[in-house]
Amino acid sequence: MANKINTIGVLTSGGDAPGMNAAIRAVVRKAINNGVKVKGIKHGYQGLLNEEIVDMDAHSVSDIIQRGGTILGTARCLEFKEEPVQQKAADICKAHGIDGIVVIGGDGSYRGALALSRHGINTIGIPGTIDLDIACTNYTIGFDTAINTAMEAIDKVRDTSSSHERCSIIEVMGRNAGYIALWCGVAVGAEDILLPEKYDFNEQTLVNNIISNRKKGKTHHLIINAEGIGHSTSMARRIEAATGIETRATILGYMQRGGSPTCKDRYYASIMGALAADVLSEGKTNKCICYRDGRFMDTDIEEALQMEKTIDPYQFEISTKLSGAATV
Ligand code: ADP
Ligand code: F6P
Repeated sequence: MANKINTIGVLTSGGDAPGMNAAIRAVVRKAINNGVKVKGIKHGYQGLLNEEIVDMDAHSVSDIIQRGGTILGTARCLEFKEEPVQQKAADICKAHGIDGIVVIGGDGSYRGALALSRHGINTIGIPGTIDLDIACTNYTIGFDTAINTAMEAIDKVRDTSSSHERCSIIEVMGRNAGYIALWCGVAVGAEDILLPEKYDFNEQTLVNNIISNRKKGKTHHLIINAEGIGHSTSMARRIEAATGIETRATILGYMQRGGSPTCKDRYYASIMGALAADVLSEGKTNKCICYRDGRFMDTDIEEALQMEKTIDPYQFEISTKLSGAATV
């Protein structure tokens, strides 16, 4: 058994994700249940450096499980990559009696957690990002809400696109990862799904698909484009010029990151938050929570950061086979 933990901190960092509040709630309530005090750190690593630290009790997390965003606020803090800044943050933790920190965020935030643990603060990461781009886990908090929000929005664009017999390029978030595009593309029956991991930038293929679909009588052509490829507006202009078919671009943007979390996000966040509190209460450090092979578990954060996530080849192949373009 490692050193005794009396007080832990919890922070959210990087892009917010629906379900982060459910995770905060679970961390706070399970830690208290374990006899450990909890402090909330506002605005991620920036707030830690500014000592934006508040005591939390079971009541401070009432009425938040259903809310999008994060009650603690979040931030990007580029200076946290510098060693003296990390040392300062660790000193601040010690001055506030914080023995360990739960970091809810993406892999960038995990790197900050790893740095803090190297300076003597026990850390554990919880995967909170709509992008699903953390290799060690099959699930990240916020993904389910984001894909459902995006799917509903795309269905709406499809209605108007069909009525006007247009081609629509709809850009979804995901930074450099194509998971939101892949899932939404399959779920809305898109004619083309462009993933940063796979796209060959051959627009002629898209143009040929659109023209051949139109000849077969299809009234719309949906292209789901991932943020990592981007340039949807200029792509739409080029495709319209090449096909003669009216083409519009819609960039869904931040709406995908907001809103009340789905049941799945609330559930996964609750279990992950509670497990993080348990692992940290046991005095473990340098860990992150994962969902793998149907189980919630903790794994080494350093190993997790070295893992590479790839699009499953079979799922990708299926995404190209089910579209109208491939079968009509
Ligand atoms: P995410 O956590 O969603 O991947 P970012 O990559 O923006 O989002 O990272 C969030 C924050 O984590 C950064 O603003 C910074 O404070 C911290 N961070 C990112 N990379 C590092 C790093 N290499 N070392 C220390 N801290 C980092
Ligand atoms: O990581 C979540 C995410 O929404 C990405 O999909 C996107 O690339 C990024 O954050 C946008 O970040 P910002 O809020 O800094 O514009």
